Amino acid sequence: MTAPIAEADGVDALLRIRDLNVGFSGRNGTLPAVRGLDLHVSRGEVLGVVGESGSGKSLGMLASLGLQARNALVSGSVRFKGQELIGRPRRELRALRGAQISMIFQDPLSSLNPVMTVGDQIREALYLHNRQMTKQKATQRVLDLLRLVAIPQPQGRINQYPHEFSGGMRQRVMIAMAVANDPELLVADEPTTALDVTVQAQIMLMLRDLKDKLGLALVLITHDLGVVAGHADRVAVIYAGRVVEEAAVRELFADPRHPYTRGLIASIPKLTMSEDKLYSIPGAPPMLGALPGGCAFHPRCAYAQDVCRKVEPPTHRVGTHKSACHFAASLPAWNGGLGAAAPENGAND
Ligand SMILES: Nc1ncnc2c1ncn2[C@@H]1O[C@H](COP(=O)(O)OP(=O)(O)OP(=O)(O)O)[C@@H](O)[C@H]1O
Ligand code: SF4
Ligand SMILES: [Mg+2]
Repeated sequence: MTAPIAEADGVDALLRIRDLNVGFSGRNGTLPAVRGLDLHVSRGEVLGVVGESGSGKSLGMLASLGLQARNALVSGSVRFKGQELIGRPRRELRALRGAQISMIFQDPLSSLNPVMTVGDQIREALYLHNRQMTKQKATQRVLDLLRLVAIPQPQGRINQYPHEFSGGMRQRVMIAMAVANDPELLVADEPTTALDVTVQAQIMLMLRDLKDKLGLALVLITHDLGVVAGHADRVAVIYAGRVVEEAAVRELFADPRHPYTRGLIASIPKLTMSEDKLYSIPGAPPMLGALPGGCAFHPRCAYAQDVCRKVEPPTHRVGTHKSACHFAASLPAWNGGLGAAAPENGAND
């Protein structure tokens, strides 16, 4: 059964992004990079935002927080605790960021200042939003934060420089800075990409633990569906600047209702898999300005029909999933593989 998406969906959310468009001027007009992005994040939840490189994950989240590049054209609505952010002066957005909303940027390991001690960098984050804080209070808070992110012997570490910390420890410092001012929403963009697998797992567990301790909502941006599997409550899958599927994490993996999600899940390597069984989605994501007509995924889709080449699918609700596929309700049963058979029933719409 499919049903149109209710307008009020996620209306009580902490962050509600509606019909967000981000484009760049090209020779023949605007090149759309984010196309009608719809997302919401509720208090205390972990939302995974997943998609291949270039799908618009960072751009969509950054633009929604007023952090887009100067050449970006942004329209749509982003409400944080009911207040509209699009069109708000940069100064007001800056005040909001770092206080109520915080961000861990992609490639955070190079975001620390190499010639400043770790303690001074965290103190600076504190002063940015509370200039009156005494040095003694700030130092106490830095030590508490270092303890919170499980840095051993923080007294000895506070005056060290970033190069004296391992990659995982530096990431912990970045997280300490991000939560220094008790934000309500933390957006972490590929927080573990540069780290080895065991450190990745430690950082993810720590982020989840912090979310519970501090009552944060967490947006976890990643190209790796495997990362969100164990750590997100809900997942939004993005393709070519648009959410193509959204569901609770268990439901997404149990019964994906979009062929792109099926491809991503099938691409997760398993320990028992021989090399010749590794799967990757055929083709490549569309380049900016070269979006195929109809469904943007159709050149790579094993289920594509004529209608897919002509008509862009609207978003349907199928059970508890939202899916932007004409055949969301009639895709063959999911067995964990790709089952390339085309859908037998007609399109949903
Ligand atoms: N300032 C800019 N000017 C022009 N194009 C841009 C700009 N910033 C981003 N883009 C384009 O917008 C698209 C989306 O980029 P974005 O950084 O959001 O991708 P992503 O999904 O975060 O990918 P990755 O996983 O590699 O980080 C890409 O095609 C990118 O080249
Ligand atoms: S609309 Fe068609 S091409 Fe697009 S994902 Fe669905 S079946 Fe594939
Ligand atoms: Mg990115």
